Amino acid sequence: MTQDPENKPDKDRDTLRYSTPYHAPVLCDVVVKELVTDRSGVYVDATLGGGGHSSALLDRLDSGGRVIGIDQDMDAIEEASKRLSEAKNDGRFSAIHGSFSIIKELLNNSEIYQIHGLLLDLGVSSHQFDKKERGFSFQGTGMIDMRMDQRNHLSAYDIVNHWPPEELKRLFKQYGEEPAAARIARRIAEKRPLETTTALADVVRSTVPSRQADKTLARVFQALRIEVNQELQALEYALHASVDLLTPGGRIAVISYHSLEDRRVKRFLRYGNMEGKPVRDLYGNLITPWRLIHRHVIQPDEVEISQNPRARSARLRIAERTTHNTSQTAA
Ligand SMILES: C[S@@+](CC[C@H](N)C(=O)[O-])C[C@H]1O[C@@H](n2cnc3c(N)ncnc32)[C@H](O)[C@@H]1O
Repeated sequence: MTQDPENKPDKDRDTLRYSTPYHAPVLCDVVVKELVTDRSGVYVDATLGGGGHSSALLDRLDSGGRVIGIDQDMDAIEEASKRLSEAKNDGRFSAIHGSFSIIKELLNNSEIYQIHGLLLDLGVSSHQFDKKERGFSFQGTGMIDMRMDQRNHLSAYDIVNHWPPEELKRLFKQYGEEPAAARIARRIAEKRPLETTTALADVVRSTVPSRQADKTLARVFQALRIEVNQELQALEYALHASVDLLTPGGRIAVISYHSLEDRRVKRFLRYGNMEGKPVRDLYGNLITPWRLIHRHVIQPDEVEISQNPRARSARLRIAERTTHNTSQTAA
């Protein structure tokens, strides 16, 4: 599918207009175009990162519109606050350091109870990935850390070096969908202590044929990252909370980067519950707090992927809050 289903991909389009060395926002044009229904509204970018999407949102809004950026990584809060300092001084932008796993509390503390749009651009930023000492990447040496919020206690180091092999196996299977989970878990336990991402990567490489190594490493590192940052629990909470936060007619846009995330988003936005169970009224109509804006997932087109290869796995879903409430929507 093309970036904007209404337009053919324009090969001269600049998809990197809002990108900085910190991060290149993905599917930026379509997100902003579809998310903003009221130019004077209140919008929450709950994955602020380098502020690329927030910057584009601010450009789309009029002087009465407002963007609140949330990120659990202090690097992102500092970077985006610097970038958006003019809007910050004008009161059009503010940043909150915290996790969207408590989005309602974070917003309520700032006396925000109703919003017109919510963006979740999940996963890690290029900055987090490229800064080796953060430990997110198996290319290059860093501590085995992977905490997005460095105030948190649990790091990937603790999991790799202290969890029993059966727990590691469960983790690699559940969050990495890794077929060689048992073998990798056993080998890690034998080779402890493992101090660096390179040491961990070498152990993982030694368990699989070399042609499978990169895929396996990506799955193992993904599983550790998801556990350290409780990513799926945070996503589920934020999706539930969005039902209460969004005003009827307001929209949610979620960009996922792997199937564990996208499955949850798809079910929730289609049926209003995480199980993907249709709930119908007496007449057989679906009872859901959402109206899907596009029936199918939106992916970056070849123009965007050629300008930003990291956009390759992005999948965007957008839905509008209806006036329906369902019993499944309590956070
Ligand atoms: C893909 S980046 C977002 C990039 C951003 N859209 C931009 O244009 O620069 C994801 C960001 O979300 C943050 N993040 C991930 N999970 C989070 C959570 N539970 N709460 C708050 N921020 C989170 C990460 O720290 C990271 O900065």
